[in-house]
Amino acid sequence: TFVVTENCIQCKYTDCVEVCPVDCFYEGPNFLVIHPDECIDCALCEPECPAEAIFSEDELPEGQEKFIEINADLSEQWPNINERIDPPADADEWNGVPGKIDKLVR
Ligand code: SF4
Ligand code: F3S
Repeated sequence: TFVVTENCIQCKYTDCVEVCPVDCFYEGPNFLVIHPDECIDCALCEPECPAEAIFSEDELPEGQEKFIEINADLSEQWPNINERIDPPADADEWNGVPGKIDKLVR
């Protein structure tokens, strides 16, 4: 399965949701997650993310392993999103900022 990781927080560009053939993205206030049971591992979303926040669970960067559980948990709680929306006005300023997990709004 594919996993949305920390750099999506506060960026939320949503280009990823447009290409997902099974519509398995779920939207929170400042982050998106993938439902692990619905993702079919097509890998189409990975190159679409301007923040490079999407990885296969087998290729997660060091320190991002906790996002496996975060995606699994929050995809059960948040509503589905299957169309691109405008990102936050300050999305580009947050792209690449470390430690954004502290900003995650559940
Ligand atoms: Fe959707 Fe494919 Fe990305 Fe899984 S890998 S979330 S199925 S686009
Ligand atoms: Fe987040 Fe990248 Fe999608 S920033 S909303 S994973 S395009």
